[in-house]
Amino acid sequence: MDRIVIRGGKKLYGTIRVSGAKNAALPILCATLLSDGASLLRNVPKLRDIDTTAALLRFLGRHVEVDAPLVRVTEANGDVRPEAPYELVKQMRASVLVLGPLLARYGRAKVSLPGGCQIGSRPVDQHLKGLEAMGAKIELRRGYIVAESGRLRGAEVVFDIPTVTGTENLMMAAALAKGRTTLVNCAREPEVEELGRVLNKMGARVDGAGTDVIHIHGADTLDPFDHAIVSDRIEAGTYMVAVAAAGGDVLIEGAPLEDLEAVVAKMRKAGVEIGREGSAVRVRRENAPLRAVDVTTAPHPGFPTDMQAQFMVLMCLAEGPSRIVETIFENRFMHVPELRRMGADIDVDGHTAHVNGGLPLSGAQVMATDLRASASLVIAGLVAADETQVLRVYHLDRGYEHMERKLAAVGADTVRMTGSGD
Ligand code: EPZ
Repeated sequence: MDRIVIRGGKKLYGTIRVSGAKNAALPILCATLLSDGASLLRNVPKLRDIDTTAALLRFLGRHVEVDAPLVRVTEANGDVRPEAPYELVKQMRASVLVLGPLLARYGRAKVSLPGGCQIGSRPVDQHLKGLEAMGAKIELRRGYIVAESGRLRGAEVVFDIPTVTGTENLMMAAALAKGRTTLVNCAREPEVEELGRVLNKMGARVDGAGTDVIHIHGADTLDPFDHAIVSDRIEAGTYMVAVAAAGGDVLIEGAPLEDLEAVVAKMRKAGVEIGREGSAVRVRRENAPLRAVDVTTAPHPGFPTDMQAQFMVLMCLAEGPSRIVETIFENRFMHVPELRRMGADIDVDGHTAHVNGGLPLSGAQVMATDLRASASLVIAGLVAADETQVLRVYHLDRGYEHMERKLAAVGADTVRMTGSGD
């Protein structure tokens, strides 16, 4: 397995270009199941999760050409096997996003229950509740969701909890349902809004995507589409924190600042200079000390859970105590034991991490566990004295395109060692 070797202490200068948004590309790839013909996705990031989704679409009977940043999806040979097997779904729980499209298009679907993952149990009860309200008969059989329906019919669905992929699954199901569907208490993430734009291009009528109430008028058939994916706000935020932590002055091109307001506010409060320059964002911290700032994660537009681990590293460098509360997932502090091994002083009490910042970090061999925890360990390595080795970077490769190269291009001493043991 690959590892990334980092020698800390270098400030960062130059330009970083943000790739397309993983969490927008995944549902949009699944939306290709809703129509025939050739759909073209542009600005798709070169990531493991994209390859996994392509493999799943091929298993379902689609022809998929991945030539990042382009992905072309066409009908393969007519016969469709609306099944998503465990061996594919276990690699990426977002595979559950094929459930809505398969049910809407083919009236049946057999999708492995995604199961939990490192950060939590990750149930899909809200997805299933919504599809049943639209007329689906759903059973759970030997670890699989087995669903059948005639043509789905529009319904009113009130989510008990805002769920990003739950909202997306039901939007796609409703896009081919008969009549009008109203989704209430929806996730408001920009990636949900982006899916709405694509479904409208396909011929559905989606109003309100990106707000907490979405109306969808289903169509009888939907057209293929050509769409350029928005930039990845979490990748952008990750590099903004990396510059703030290491120090320096970096222009981040393609950073959707308007989708990062909660993160920008907290970083500015911590003493980081952040300014827009056209469609780019300049992040600068030369010698200003970092200030301790409390953060509580929340659904968009609150502080994103996907930025919690990265921001915690910044607070390890700030003078004094700070509190980081994780409200979305039940177990998203796996980066804490690894940061402690690098010298950080962090106490976890349930959903709250108490960071006593200002202690020097020292390099160590650390283990990546989930996507964003891996990113936080790389950021810590940029600052720690001596050498840090981040192992099992396949976690990182799920959501970050060549992170070690993008950081090296702005002066970091980061190299990938391929196939070196664990
Ligand atoms: C999406 O996951 C993202 N993944 C996650 O990004 C992100 O962390 C998460 O949203 C929260 O913003 C993709 O978009 C592919 P949720 P998702 O359903 O949709 C509970 C990354 O790092 N819930 O919004 O799976 C759930 O347990 C990944 O890129 C139910 O109880 O998250 C959680 O506590 C990690 N029942 C909360 O809702 C359900 O039916 C929010 O989860 C669904 C969710």
